[in-house]
Amino acid sequence: MAKYDNSFTDELRQRLSLVDVISRRVPLTKKGQNYWGCCPFHNEKTPSFSVSEDKGFYHCFGCGEHGDIISFIMKSENMDFKTAIKELADMAGLKMPEFKQKSPEQIAAEENYIKITERTTQIYQDLLYKDSGKHALEYIKNRGFSDEIIKKYRIGYAPKNNIISSTFNNINRDKLLSTGLVRIGDYGPYDFFRDKLMFPIFNAHGQVVAFSGRSLDGSEPKYINTTDTELFHKRQTIFGFNFARESIHRNNRSIIVEGQIDAIQMQNHGFPETVAPLGTALTEDHIAILCKSNRNITFCFDGDNAGQKAAVRACTLVLPFLRDNSDVRFAFVTGGKDPDEILKIGGKEAMDKIINNATPLIDFLWDFVNKNFLINTPGGRTQAEKYLKDCTSKITDKIFQNEIEQEYNSRKFNQWHKWKQQKYTPKIEMPDIDIMTENVIKSIVQTYPELAEKYTEFLMSLNISFDDAQKTDLSIENAEKFIVSLKLQRYLKSLQNEKIELLSNIPENAGDEYRNKLKEIDENIIQANEKLELLLDINK
Ligand code: CTP
Ligand code: MN
Repeated sequence: MAKYDNSFTDELRQRLSLVDVISRRVPLTKKGQNYWGCCPFHNEKTPSFSVSEDKGFYHCFGCGEHGDIISFIMKSENMDFKTAIKELADMAGLKMPEFKQKSPEQIAAEENYIKITERTTQIYQDLLYKDSGKHALEYIKNRGFSDEIIKKYRIGYAPKNNIISSTFNNINRDKLLSTGLVRIGDYGPYDFFRDKLMFPIFNAHGQVVAFSGRSLDGSEPKYINTTDTELFHKRQTIFGFNFARESIHRNNRSIIVEGQIDAIQMQNHGFPETVAPLGTALTEDHIAILCKSNRNITFCFDGDNAGQKAAVRACTLVLPFLRDNSDVRFAFVTGGKDPDEILKIGGKEAMDKIINNATPLIDFLWDFVNKNFLINTPGGRTQAEKYLKDCTSKITDKIFQNEIEQEYNSRKFNQWHKWKQQKYTPKIEMPDIDIMTENVIKSIVQTYPELAEKYTEFLMSLNISFDDAQKTDLSIENAEKFIVSLKLQRYLKSLQNEKIELLSNIPENAGDEYRNKLKEIDENIIQANEKLELLLDINK
C-alpha cells in the first residue's frame, strides 16, 4: 500500500474542532462529556448520534456509523479522500500540501537513517560505562540518575575522538551526513558531538531521530542538539513525549518544563506526564501535539523575568487550542531553581505544591496586564484592554470567547472602576510635611518623650522616621503647640475634603439634611481656623 504523509491530516485534526465541523450539518447539544444530535446517516427522531471532541470521533448508536472528521466529510458530502481533505483545509485556512507518495528510495533512506542513529545510541551507551566516559558517568550519577534511568533514557557518552565517522567510514557518506552526526571539515569528516553527555531524542514511535549533547567541562553552549534533518524537526519534537504519552492520556493532563533533565527527573518522581520542548523555544506544533490527547496543560516556568516572558508566549500559542473544558495553568518555580533542583531538595511533595498552586490561564493573563500596564492611567488601561482583547480573539470557540471577555469586563468594572472611584474621591490626606517641619517634629520627639507618648498615634501617622534626631530649642509648651497646630491642619484638610466630596455629589433631591450637613462642616472649618490662628499667634 502506498504510504502517505499523515502530518497534514494530523494537522487538520488538530486545527479543526470535530464538534464545529459536524454542527454545520447537524445541530448538537452537549450532554455530559459528549455532544449529541440526530444521526445524519439514518433517519431518526431521537438523537443517538454522539460526538466526542476529545477523542476526535463520532459514533451513532442507532446505525453504528463511526468515524473521524475526515470520514464525516467524505460520507456526509459524498466526497473522496482528497476532496474531503481539501474541503477541511479550506475550513482551517490551510494550504493543501503536495501529496507525495514516499518513494522506495525514500523509505530505504529513512530505514538507513534509523539504523545509523540506533547503532550510534548503542555505541554512546557502551562508552558511558568505559574508561573514556568515566567523568560523564560520574557527572550524571551526581545529578541523581540511577543506572536504571540511564538505561531507560539510553543516555550515553560521545568521546573526544571521531568515533562515529570512523565506525561508519565504509557507509555511503551522504547517508551518514543526513543524520547530522558527522560533518565535513577542512580535514575530512568529523563527529558533531564530542566529549558530551548524550541524550537520544526519540520520535513518537520510540526511534532515535536525533541527539542532545550536554557539555561536561563547563564550556558553552551548555547543550547542542542535532540540527534539523529529514527525520528530525526540532520545532515539532517534544523531549520525553514517547515516554509520557500514555500518562498524558491517563492522567488527563501534560506538564511542560523548560529543560530536558527536568523532564526526566519529573517523569521519574511522580510526574510521568511531563515533557520539555527542545531548546527553550516552545512552538505551536508542540502545543498541537500535546492537545491531541487532551487540552489540559500545566506549564512550569522559572519564576524570573525570562520565565514570565516564556509564559506569556506560551499563552498566545495555547489560546487557539482552548476549549470550554480545557484546563491550562502556569506554575512558577522561584528562587532561581528548576524542577530538577526542587525535586532534589523537597521531593515530589515540594513539586506538588508548585504544580497545585499553578495559576489558571485566565487569571495569569489578568495578573499579567495588571502588572505590566499602568492601570491607573487611561492610556495604560487602554493598552491592557487591547492586549486582553488580542488574546481572547485567538480563542476559536465564539461562545467561550465571549464568556471570557465578559469575565474580563466584570473584572475591569470591579477592579479598575473601583480604583477610579478611589482616585476621584477626595481622600483625607496628611498635611504636607516639608523637611523643616519634619526636623522640628523629630527633635521634639527626641527632646520630650512625654509629648511623644501623648501624641503617639498622630506622630506615627505622619510616616516619618524618628532616627538620628537633634535636640530642640523649643520649650515644652511651644513644642506641644507645634504638634497640636499640625494636628489641627490635618483636621482642617479633612473637613475641606469632606466639603468637596459633598459638593461634587449633590443628590438630586438635596434638601435640608444636605444643607445642614454642609453648614455643619463650614462651622467646623471656621472653628478650626480660629483655633489654629490662636495657636500660631501665641507661637510668634
Ligand atoms: N538548551 C539548549 N541549548 C543551550 C542551552 C539550553 O538547547 N545552549 C535547552 C536544553 O534543552 C535545556 C533547556 O534549554 O535543557 C533549559 O536550559 P537551562 O535552564 O540553561 O538548562 P538546564 O535544563 O537547567 O540544564 P542543566 O540542568 O543540565 O544545567
Ligand atoms: Mn537544571
